[in-house]
Amino acid sequence: MNELARFVSALPKAELHLHIEGTFEPELMFEIARRNNVRIPYKSVDEVRAAYRFGNLQDFLDIYYAGAGVLRTERDFYELTRAYLKKAHEQNVVHTEIFFDPQTHTGRGIPFDTVIRGIHAALEDARKEWGMTSRLIMSFLRHLSEEDAFATLEQGLRYRDWITAVGLDSSELGNPPSKFRRVFDRARAEGFLAVAHAGEEGPAEYVREALDLLHVTRIDHGNRSLDDAELTRELARRQIPLTVCPLSNLKLQVCRDLNRHPVRQMLDEGLMVTINSDDPAYFGGYVNENYTALIEPLQLTRDELLRLVENSFKAAFLDETMRQTYLENLHQTAGQVN
Ligand code: HPA
Ligand code: ZN
Repeated sequence: MNELARFVSALPKAELHLHIEGTFEPELMFEIARRNNVRIPYKSVDEVRAAYRFGNLQDFLDIYYAGAGVLRTERDFYELTRAYLKKAHEQNVVHTEIFFDPQTHTGRGIPFDTVIRGIHAALEDARKEWGMTSRLIMSFLRHLSEEDAFATLEQGLRYRDWITAVGLDSSELGNPPSKFRRVFDRARAEGFLAVAHAGEEGPAEYVREALDLLHVTRIDHGNRSLDDAELTRELARRQIPLTVCPLSNLKLQVCRDLNRHPVRQMLDEGLMVTINSDDPAYFGGYVNENYTALIEPLQLTRDELLRLVENSFKAAFLDETMRQTYLENLHQTAGQVN
């Protein structure tokens, strides 16, 4: 590992764009499938990994939802989350904000309670063992109806103490943020923060809608924002965080070549850009690999890497005292690593 890769890997970080279902490594998938007597259409872990070639977002989502179909019990959700948190802890992630997709599970008869209780128990254990802090973001599947999202929100209200924000993910094209305006209004009225995937495959217009109609405080991905100069200026002026995921962009062919990845322009234009792993089991890297993948292609400097990590705490859903503590620890560590 070169010096800058070692530097960024050693820093304490926050991860803000991570789908728990996207951390399902094939080894664990086989183990849980066997335990639950669920058939999967692959003979080996290698065969599973070989299937992870995606032409676009939908190719990936088809495989991602099929994989999640193996998860049945609270223990399964606990083990899934535990495995991610262990990996994140090893990579010096000290705070993580995790998406979960209740509809992926309730749609096939798994109770909402089973899903959230398993995830929450693992988050609690990570807090007790490592002092790792976390937030949960309940994400609506945008290919389903707004009515379905309302039913999901209703179930989430029983766990409002465990859920910080609502989000919007799945197939972006043809499912604009405007489709979910009313359910986001209701979620915010109930005290949830709001984020949304926008501008991954969809146009800059969807980012505009997420800001103006859903009143999100963060945009997930947001790459296509740069197509609209006025929107880009507004994102910079308001310091709206973008949770960018380089290896995801590469694997889903949102970005053909990391040499031309939008993080370079986002940094140069003063946007509040952060680096995240999205679905690490499917895209070939956890958060450190996402930072290091950009170093050489974008000629990132030590100061730029530090700024990206600072942004991860600035953009996190933390109270100001915690944020300052994390930022101080970050600067202290940065001063010690050569
Ligand atoms: N985009 C949309 N939906 C998703 C993603 C993503 O990158 N990952 C998991 N669900
Ligand atoms: Zn995502």
